[in-house]
Amino acid sequence: MSIIEEAVRKTAERYHRSAQTEPAATGSRPRLRRVPPPASEAANVRRFQPITLDRGVLEENNILPQLIDPGALRAYKILRTRMLRRLEANQWHSFAVTGATPGEGKTLTAINLAMALAQDSNTSVFLVDLDLQRPKVADYIGLNNSHGERGLTDFLLGDATMEQIAYTPSSMERLTVIPNFQAVSNASDLLTSPRMSELVQLLEAEMPRRIVIFDMPPVLASDDVLAFSPQVDGMLLVVAEGTTNRDALRSAKEMLQEMNLLGVVLNRSEAQDEAAYYSYAR
Ligand SMILES: Nc1ncnc2c1ncn2[C@@H]1O[C@H](COP(=O)(O)OP(=O)(O)OP(=O)(O)O)[C@@H](O)[C@H]1O
Ligand SMILES: [Mg+2]
Repeated sequence: MSIIEEAVRKTAERYHRSAQTEPAATGSRPRLRRVPPPASEAANVRRFQPITLDRGVLEENNILPQLIDPGALRAYKILRTRMLRRLEANQWHSFAVTGATPGEGKTLTAINLAMALAQDSNTSVFLVDLDLQRPKVADYIGLNNSHGERGLTDFLLGDATMEQIAYTPSSMERLTVIPNFQAVSNASDLLTSPRMSELVQLLEAEMPRRIVIFDMPPVLASDDVLAFSPQVDGMLLVVAEGTTNRDALRSAKEMLQEMNLLGVVLNRSEAQDEAAYYSYAR
């Protein structure tokens, strides 16, 4: 068994303790279109269902704009600027946030980067929870479906429209979140389904004016990232200092060679310097 297969097996075992995966369906899907972003239109982006974010929940979960740690705040702004430059330079509009193994801070990074980007007056953002087996975005920002709110799985199963699963916080109108309230075990199948292609096309229609960020599971845990990668412009890899195993990281980078790696975020760094706290390479 190769290093990659071994790493995939070990990580998948941990990741799927409570969920089963199935092999990804193959087949080509439309890629997100690349259209130059007219920045001046950012203020006119479409708003979806209004939601009010609970400041207490955001603060508790270290999420912008309630993030207090000044080092982390500076680091997210640096990351925002570097990502914006890279996306703009290449006319890219979408990326997935992933990592090698579970718990490295992918979701927290995806949310805070989306918030930081949406704080920029010229940038509008879609944040999509694409960790279908363990969706967490809603929890982290304090959304729940206690009033029958719909999420991504409802759309993918054909039970909801995009308008029913997209939410725009009243305090941050340049951000729209597509959360998920319902975990599924057949994630790969849904990620390569016609409904997923439909969502990609709907996001594409919004794209000239928006950046789309997909929060995804670890690259070694399943084939979800590999299956979905043709639909995004690139990948942002989150690595947790002192946590991400060296072999797992090597395997992840090997797998990501087939994809467009936009950068690496070093999370949970001991270093006090903000550039190191969430450093960005490449
Ligand atoms: N830099 C950080 N400082 C403090 N806590 C952090 C940091 N990054 C992540 N965490 C915490 O670690 C936990 C895991 O983070 P998160 O859910 O973002 O990881 P993940 O990589 O998305 O995990 P999964 O693989 O399960 O999707 C969360 O409780 C989060 O708040
Ligand atoms: Mg996550």
